[in-house]
Amino acid sequence: MVKIVSAPSGYQHAQSLRNHLVNSAGMNFRPFDGRPVFPRQIEIHLPNSTMLHCNFKCVHCEGRLVEKDRWSYDKLLFGLIRNLDGRIPNFIISGAYTEPTLNRNLINYIELIKSTGANYGLHTNGLLFACRESKQKFLSRLFSVSDPGDYISVSLDAGSHASFEKTKQVPGILFDKVLEGVGIAGALKDQNKDESPKLRLTYLLNPDNVATAEIESSVKIARAMGADSLRFSIPYAPYGTPMPGSIHYQSSFEVPVFAHASKNLAPYLSVSGEDRPFVFFLPPETQDVNRMYFSRCFHGYNMITLGADGMLYRCSSTASPTFAGHRLGIMTRKMHRFMKILLKNQDPDFNPAKRCMPAGARCTRAALDINATFGLIHDSQDLWRLISHGLLS
Ligand SMILES: C[S@@+](CC[C@H](N)C(=O)[O-])C[C@H]1O[C@@H](n2cnc3c(N)ncnc32)[C@H](O)[C@@H]1O
Repeated sequence: MVKIVSAPSGYQHAQSLRNHLVNSAGMNFRPFDGRPVFPRQIEIHLPNSTMLHCNFKCVHCEGRLVEKDRWSYDKLLFGLIRNLDGRIPNFIISGAYTEPTLNRNLINYIELIKSTGANYGLHTNGLLFACRESKQKFLSRLFSVSDPGDYISVSLDAGSHASFEKTKQVPGILFDKVLEGVGIAGALKDQNKDESPKLRLTYLLNPDNVATAEIESSVKIARAMGADSLRFSIPYAPYGTPMPGSIHYQSSFEVPVFAHASKNLAPYLSVSGEDRPFVFFLPPETQDVNRMYFSRCFHGYNMITLGADGMLYRCSSTASPTFAGHRLGIMTRKMHRFMKILLKNQDPDFNPAKRCMPAGARCTRAALDINATFGLIHDSQDLWRLISHGLLS
């Protein structure tokens, strides 16, 4: 049996939401009482004006399956960030089918977010880091505004040119460019007294990158780059996969890859919270489709997602035109409109078991953790009871 060391605090989603609600709404919090609450984070699936949605074609990416659309809403987004003025404390810049570094304004967004006092998280494949650094001083500027609440997450997903090529479906030599960029980030991090931002590497496992040599190589890379963490996990079935397909995927892919990976990963997993990089493995229970039959969704208190198509969505898992029925409204910088949209995202009558599962939409890991924990909460008394019983300490 592999020893699974608990994930770092950034991955304790229910706990983070509890902290957010205590800090923002406090004793006044009553779920679904008709008053909008600023969520803990907004996730932005950043579009760009190049010919490409993304510069990779990862085998595990939902972008292969969902309908894609892009709307260049840069001006509106600058306005929204300014008007929010830090009231949503975390901005996660990522994509469902886009790569955020393809947008040349990315650094300006990050600088603006930081000027409002909010934190950022950036999810990227890292390919353009080196090029953006030489053209825009992208990484230097980013590191100069960061603090320990910020993070960069690079989707490494490989330990060699060969597995990189198979997983990302681009020439393996590009692995060197990713490593060059992450290396620059690691060096800049060293120069920051507080070693900010956090540098997280992620590694989605598949039959081409699960061998011991691949894993050992990625751990060495994480160490050499000065990464804070290296997360291994099993790719979930792309969102949009009909439920029977997701259940089949679980038994035919997740379970065998988990068994294989558990054996190979065991010697490399961290056993102390002090380890740097902290190497950990998220098991398939964290994304188990059989645990997702909830009658209410608390995830709207955790986040709202701005899709690359300019629509606001309930969840990062549904932020594409494939899930048009999960749209909350069109992107706006006007606060009174935005608040109305937030309220729609905190709707007591939204039943995920009826609305998500039949549409092939599933909980993200964060939504699963939050709904499994917060599903026990019906009023503020329940919330405080859970806290006092240490369930959300
Ligand atoms: C879709 S990517 C887009 C951002 C960027 N292009 C990148 O590669 O990180 C956003 C995040 O989703 C994760 N991801 C993509 N497909 C996944 C899957 N099938 N299962 C789990 N995570 C997945 C990636 O590892 C990445 O952290």
